[in-house]
Amino acid sequence: MADDGTTRGQFLSLSTVGIGAVIGGVIGVPATAYMLAPVTDEVKFEPVLLGKVGDFPSSSGFDPKAATYLEDTQNPGTSPGLAWVSNTGKTSEDWLDPDAMFIVFSNRCMHLGCPVQAAQGLGFSCPCHGGQYDTEGRRIAGPPIRPLDRFQWEIKNSDELWITQRWSVDFIDGQLTYFPVKMPGQPVAPPGPSIIADVLYPNVTYEYGKVPRPK
Ligand code: FES
Repeated sequence: MADDGTTRGQFLSLSTVGIGAVIGGVIGVPATAYMLAPVTDEVKFEPVLLGKVGDFPSSSGFDPKAATYLEDTQNPGTSPGLAWVSNTGKTSEDWLDPDAMFIVFSNRCMHLGCPVQAAQGLGFSCPCHGGQYDTEGRRIAGPPIRPLDRFQWEIKNSDELWITQRWSVDFIDGQLTYFPVKMPGQPVAPPGPSIIADVLYPNVTYEYGKVPRPK
């Protein structure tokens, strides 16, 4: 028995509990930080030039043009992206206006992320598992769980088309609705409290500010 009255058995029990707590902390703290990190670490989407407005002419039917870009100019080898630019034939330079001149779609399929191809006059199709989307980017067949992401766009210097942010979208009660970006295969508005949804399906955390609403 120790001077303070602790028996050998009690000492070993306390030691075991203490070591267990330390090991639990070593394992648990980084794991918890990893789970929470996507909710708190935000990455900024850098505006990027897609091309001249004239590179994306209107046509009589749905005929989007492909535009390549770099998401991260510091890492050109690992961040190439492709947007599909659909000229609607309308004239508004306000991307949220119902008469907006362009819809700029992401080419990332919302099943597992394969690159979708435009099907002239029809919409988009995915070569991997047969996902199909209409001319609004709405899923019409196959395994994708939501519409194609869209890019916020802006015309700068009178004739340059830039994308300035990326948004996930869904049609809620038929209304186009924007959301912070989620990964392919993840719902944008799952049932239940949003805090649980954010942990289960963390945003791809672009700094996004106020979520836009169509006009
Ligand atoms: S990744 Fe497009 S349908 Fe599977």
